Amino acid sequence: MPVHGRPSFTGVFHTSPDGYLFCEDLQVKTVQDEFAKASEYGSPFFMYSKRQIGDNVRSYVEALQRHDLPYILGYAVKANNNLTILRILRDLGCTAVLVSGNELKLAMLAGFSTDKLVFNGNGKTQWEIELAVTHDVMINADSLFDIDHISSVARQLGKKVKMLLRMNPDIDPEVHRYLATGSAVSKFGIPETDLDTALGKAGSDDNIDLVGLHCHIGSTITNIDVFRATVSAMLRYNNHVQGRGFRLKYLNVGGGLGINYRKYIQVCMCIPSGGELIDSIADKIKESGLCLILEPGRSIIASAGILVSKVIGIKRNETRSFLVIDGSMTEVMRPCLYGAYHHIQLIEPTSGTRRYSVVGPVCECGDYLAEDIELPIPHEGCGLAIRDAGAYCASMSSNYNMRVRTI
Ligand SMILES: Cc1ncc(COP(=O)(O)O)c(C=O)c1O
Repeated sequence: MPVHGRPSFTGVFHTSPDGYLFCEDLQVKTVQDEFAKASEYGSPFFMYSKRQIGDNVRSYVEALQRHDLPYILGYAVKANNNLTILRILRDLGCTAVLVSGNELKLAMLAGFSTDKLVFNGNGKTQWEIELAVTHDVMINADSLFDIDHISSVARQLGKKVKMLLRMNPDIDPEVHRYLATGSAVSKFGIPETDLDTALGKAGSDDNIDLVGLHCHIGSTITNIDVFRATVSAMLRYNNHVQGRGFRLKYLNVGGGLGINYRKYIQVCMCIPSGGELIDSIADKIKESGLCLILEPGRSIIASAGILVSKVIGIKRNETRSFLVIDGSMTEVMRPCLYGAYHHIQLIEPTSGTRRYSVVGPVCECGDYLAEDIELPIPHEGCGLAIRDAGAYCASMSSNYNMRVRTI
C-alpha cells in the first residue's frame, strides 16, 4: 500500500532531502509561516508555480508549431480566474475563453485583445451578448434561441458578429456524468438534427458571420481516442456545412484534457499531455485547412497550484482517525462534488505513518478532502498541501458557513 504523502524529489513542486515541500525555489512552510504572521486569515491559501504554467502551455504550443497548424490557444478562464495567472497566460501567447460577461470584463482587464476571445454559454443574457458583440468577441452559439438572441443584439448594435455553432456530437467522453457535456442527455450544444435549421438562421442573417464550428464534449478526459472521434464528427459536420455553401475558418474542439491526479501513487496511469493530444489530431486538422481553436483549462493550470493548509486537530472514533484541517470543501470542492481525488502531502518532515480521513471545519458530512488515506503522522499546526488544486478550486470556492473566501 503506497504512503499517500510520498514525496517527489524532482519537478517544480519537490521535497528537499530533509523533508520540506518546495514550490520552485520557495520553501512552502516558510511562506505559510510568513502569511500566518501577516494575517489571522493567512491560512489556507493557494500557491501557484509560474514555471509549471509555462511548461503546460509549451506542451501545446510546441506541438502546434511542430505540425505547422494555424491555431488559437484559448485558456478557459472558468478553470482559474486569478488576474495574475491570466496576465501570465496572455504573455505566453494564449487568448481566453469565457463563460460569462464578468469573465469577459476580467479578460479585458487582464489585457487580452478582444477579437481573439471566445464567449461560450448555454444561457447568455442580453447584457453579456451586448458586451461580447460590442468588443468583437467570437461567440459560440449554443442553441437555436441563442442564435436568435445574438442576432437581435447584433442588429440593434449595427454590428456583424463572428459566430461559431456549438455542436453536440453525442460522444461519451468516459468521465463523471457532471463533466460530460457532449452527450445527447447534456444541456449543451446543437444536436445534428438542428444543424440545417441553425445554418438557415445564420446564413440568412446579415448581422452574422458564420466563422466556425465548436464543440466541448467534457472535462477530465483521459482517452485520446475520444478526441479523435470528436474531431472526425466535427469534420463530417464541416463537410455538410461546406455542401450548404458556407466557407468556415475555425474548428474549435474545446478543452477537456484530464491530468493524472493520482500520479504520486499510481505511476503507470498514462494520460496524454497537451502535446500528445495535438499529435493525435494534427493530421485531420491539417487536412481540413481550418484554423484550430483549443479551449484548455485544467491541463494548463491544475498541476500549477496547491492549497496550503494546516492541521487544526486529530480525533478518533471506533472506525477512523480524522485529520481536521483549516482547508475545506469551500476551497477544494471537487472531492465533495464529484468524488474527485486530490493528492495530499505534509509540507514538513514528521515520522511514522497512519491512516486518516482528511476533513475540513465546514458543517457538512460531505466536507472531506480525502477518505481513509495513509499519511505521515502530523502534529497540530503541521502544514499540508493539497496537490493539483490549480483548476476548479479557487474559481469554485465559496464563503459557505461564512468562511473567508480563499481565492
Ligand atoms: C465550453 C468549455 N470550454 C472549455 C472548458 C475547459 O475544460 P477543461 O478545463 O477540462 O480543459 C470548459 C470546461 O468544462 C467548457 O465548458
